[in-house]
Amino acid sequence: MRILSVASEVYPLVKTGGLADVAGALPAALAALGEDVRILVPGYPAVLDATEGLGGWLPLGDPLGAGECRLGLGRLPGTTLRVWVIECPTLYGRPGNPYSDAAGADWPDNHLRFALLARVAALVCEAGALLGWPPDLLHAHDWQAGLAPAYLALRAGRRPATVFTIHNIQFPGIFPAAALPALGLPRESYSINGVEYHGNVSFLKAGLYYADHVNTVSPTYALELLTPEGGSGFHGALAAKGDRFSGILNGIDTALWNPARDAAIAVPFSAAALQGKAIDKAALQREAGLAPQAEAPLFGVISRLTGQKGMDLLVGALPELLAGGGQLVLLGTGERPIEATLLAAAQAHPRHVHVRIGYDEAFAHRIQAGSDALLVPSRHEPCGLTQLYAMRYGTLPVARRTGGLADSVVDAAVPGAATGFLFDRGTVPELAAAIRRASAAYHDPAGWGRLRERAMQQDFSWDASARRYLELFRSLA
Ligand code: ADP
Ligand code: GLC
Repeated sequence: MRILSVASEVYPLVKTGGLADVAGALPAALAALGEDVRILVPGYPAVLDATEGLGGWLPLGDPLGAGECRLGLGRLPGTTLRVWVIECPTLYGRPGNPYSDAAGADWPDNHLRFALLARVAALVCEAGALLGWPPDLLHAHDWQAGLAPAYLALRAGRRPATVFTIHNIQFPGIFPAAALPALGLPRESYSINGVEYHGNVSFLKAGLYYADHVNTVSPTYALELLTPEGGSGFHGALAAKGDRFSGILNGIDTALWNPARDAAIAVPFSAAALQGKAIDKAALQREAGLAPQAEAPLFGVISRLTGQKGMDLLVGALPELLAGGGQLVLLGTGERPIEATLLAAAQAHPRHVHVRIGYDEAFAHRIQAGSDALLVPSRHEPCGLTQLYAMRYGTLPVARRTGGLADSVVDAAVPGAATGFLFDRGTVPELAAAIRRASAAYHDPAGWGRLRERAMQQDFSWDASARRYLELFRSLA
């Protein structure tokens, strides 16, 4: 099957979060199963720089009247996976974050920037025969690719089957209805049976309505999306899809996230040879300027610093963490007030709290390797990848029972299956109680060792999930 995967970020070309990890690893896993997969991504400067062997440029003209563009073909670094890159200097020729300017404000022309991604995806499908590569299936990720199924469905003629994956319903890609003509969408698409959403255009709604199948990234999040509280206004539209809406748990790239072969960490380790983990903990404490206490439970956080991620709860529960003799190393960026509160906490407790504001892939690996537990207090979590990486590194998740966290972590109270600590409500007392439980468990080395061993044995590799996608794709194509 020829599968075209369309996403606004793809690791290792450009990444702001888990979407990039999935948009890089799932195509690779499908290719490993023998499918013919290609990726389509916007040519931000970092992507133009990092794509290997990029060339064979095809002029595409000016599809949206927003600037001339062309399409090049290259490879994902270090792989044979083919990547199509859209070069369009007027829309993509800006360094930094793919969605926003240096001050964190969304680019005002994001509707055009991501309409172009979708428009070119549709063009590749329409001109597939000419390109010598007619896709059988288009896989669009999140709102940034949401118009692709719409462009394809709204024209006559043969088209590939389409699947739209929701990675986060909290980002619906909403723009004023006045943008409709610039997007090249017909008037009749501006309807409840179309791209309209409460008097605006929603790119997510477009993907959701026009795709042949919609899925999200965990079974529990799929159920949550069907409720008025969890569906963010889209629960009705999702319910209308019936069995054309489902949940498939993400996998992880087990080569990239492998404590036995991780170039970013001080000493490699594995479930069978765990000595290295203690050395990595000491190295992390040193790097973070924390007291070199081997017996202090060390909690890690690697997260966008937002309300969705429950980072305000973390601030509230910090006294409890410190009272239990614990330490905290946090890496993240996000909302300025949360950053400021966390930095203040680090300043108040320099030997027990370390906060690094910024984006640092290698430090994320060292936190996973050196921590005893990883805090993931999310209010909503479609899947969550950091808890999956954590378990592989023998770092026990302390997580809220929601979405993909509920589907991947088993609470310590469950005999014979436990891999971490779950709490139910997104409140400070419940998070604090979970931290207390984890701290107490940490001081029982034999029990902790059993939990850690089981966490490390879990198989979250893409293999099983990629087969589920493939089954779905085959049923549609
Ligand atoms: P989300 O996509 O909602 O942010 P996920 O848990 O799915 O959450 O994925 C987050 C990804 O981004 C993980 O790969 C994590 O390691 C990474 N990440 C998040 N914040 C940072 C950061 N500040 N520095 C490095 N990596 C980060
Ligand atoms: C989104 C979600 C996260 C998920 C990731 C990859 O960013 O917030 O839970 O793991 O997408 O699917």
